[in-house]
Amino acid sequence: MCGIAGYIGKNQANEFLLSALKKLEYRGYDSAGMTILDSDGSLGYVRSVGKICDLEKKMRNEKKITGFVGIAHTRWATHGCPSEKNTHPHHDCKKDIFIVHNGIIENYKSLKKSLEKSGHKFESETDTEIIAHLIESHFDGNLQQAVFNCLRHIEGAYAIAVVSKSDPDKIIVAKKGSPLVIGVGDGEYFVASDASALVGYTDRVIYLDDDEMGIIEKDKYKIVSTTNNNQIHKEHCKIDSNVCEIQKCGHEFFLLKEIFEGPEVVENSIRGRIISEKGLTKLGGLEVIDQDKLRNINRIIIIACGTANYAGMIGEYMLEEYAGIPVEVEIGSEFRYRKPIIDEKTAVLVVSQSGETADTIASLQEAKRKGALSLGIVNTVGSTIARETDAGVYNHAGPEISVASTKALMSQITVLALLTVYIGRSREMSLVTGKRITDELKKIPKLMNQVLDTNEDIKRIAQKYSKYRNFLYLGRKYNYPIACEGALKLKEVAYKIHAEGYAGGEMKHGPIAMIDENFPCFFIAPSDSVYEKMWSNMEEVKARNGKIIAIATEGNEDIKDLADDVIYIPKTLEMLTPILTAIPLHLFAAYMGIEFGFDVDKPRNLAKSVTVE
Ligand code: F6R
Repeated sequence: MCGIAGYIGKNQANEFLLSALKKLEYRGYDSAGMTILDSDGSLGYVRSVGKICDLEKKMRNEKKITGFVGIAHTRWATHGCPSEKNTHPHHDCKKDIFIVHNGIIENYKSLKKSLEKSGHKFESETDTEIIAHLIESHFDGNLQQAVFNCLRHIEGAYAIAVVSKSDPDKIIVAKKGSPLVIGVGDGEYFVASDASALVGYTDRVIYLDDDEMGIIEKDKYKIVSTTNNNQIHKEHCKIDSNVCEIQKCGHEFFLLKEIFEGPEVVENSIRGRIISEKGLTKLGGLEVIDQDKLRNINRIIIIACGTANYAGMIGEYMLEEYAGIPVEVEIGSEFRYRKPIIDEKTAVLVVSQSGETADTIASLQEAKRKGALSLGIVNTVGSTIARETDAGVYNHAGPEISVASTKALMSQITVLALLTVYIGRSREMSLVTGKRITDELKKIPKLMNQVLDTNEDIKRIAQKYSKYRNFLYLGRKYNYPIACEGALKLKEVAYKIHAEGYAGGEMKHGPIAMIDENFPCFFIAPSDSVYEKMWSNMEEVKARNGKIIAIATEGNEDIKDLADDVIYIPKTLEMLTPILTAIPLHLFAAYMGIEFGFDVDKPRNLAKSVTVE
């Protein structure tokens, strides 16, 4: 949550900073601000409630600030409501030191009290402001030393960028628990919460690790440890995103663009990873671990949050059915506080688009401490989870900008299917089964396109049902997680509506009480091993005058006897149906939100990377 950016170099800082904030806006968008130091020693800052375009307007019309060194922030409120006084950058008493921060300072209350006692005056309700005052209390002209001393008192998570009028030709950055990347340009350096903000400026980056601090000047930088101040040598990495990946490319919203990118994403996720004739999959990222160790694993715990967790649930069904290995799926925020029973034959598999979800990271670290083999399925290259797992598989889904996750889910299910074959074939899975799964996976992008071609029908159905305020989503087995996903997506992007996802068999244990003519139900009912059971659930809803929207397999005409509206998907292997059934549900939610006039890329109260608990 929250995005930070920084610039030092030969160009006007505001140009990069605004561009970076726009790319980081998915991390938070309730207010934004910027501080810039000019070469004449002056300092200007501007803060604005609302989105980056509001800040940009303010900078154009009311408050122009110029200079070659600057820091900026886009906020997702944690401490204090979205207001100008709570907007970053925050400053010390003298307005000499300015700071932007992503994370949460857990001991801010006690620090604030003691700073207040020694005369510091606070303007905001934020935890961040204490950092500026704490640096001030240690400052004697050397910003690096003051930040170093300040960090020793701070508990919690942070990625920070700091500038000072009294030590003007540098930016100090530091990280613990929140992401931060330094971009290396030609006579200029960039700072951002993630590398996507640097696309178009540089492809050379340095990922800061926890407990590291960067001292960045116009033509040089150094990294030191925040524990002992010793210098650390770090290599540059190359990033390979292209500009189109982070633009809408003709679509009204990133959300729609990313849903329609699904087939290409699945192609990218399977490219080079299938050995058809042998019914095998090749996952290079897993080859770094001892294959005997992997074969000896007798249990997998999948840990993830939100949509990634639903992908994990689908993975559980796949791995148990086809790879014959017991799997449990856990929500990161619960797992981290339990007393999980883990031994060296347990593998934890964390699934995360951003690779920065705080609860998932904390669970991963806890599992590693207990001796588990740690594996990851991650989309964001170089992210914390990608770096902290023993081994893993990248999604290759490209940057996901829309806050609601769609294309990442498609890729996560795909990679879990590849993993099922990878693990299954080293155990009991036959060549025939391996071939059947991989052959069918290769056909999926084409089948996804067929579903996407029905988008106008789905839009029409969304408009037809836009007057309803409650929806129930039902599915069984592989499509139970998709029922939860459909409901989550509707709540997220069309938040006037309340929706619940349920296992079909659970309806009679409670939710059926709500059913009447004002309560539409989505039935995810492809022709699979549980279709007959879903049919019975549909009968039960129909008997209570409930409206039914069904997702069914092409050729199933009978379903029209019960359903008010039907969306068809082509036939595929049961375990892969979720990739197809999720598409209409994603489109339905998107069109519903658009029908309400919402910015479906940035629904209220949400942020893309949930880097706080
Ligand atoms: C839902 C959504 C969230 C994320 C969740 C996990 O549309 O976007 O539920 O799936 O916050 O995020 P990652 O995958 O980045 O760990």
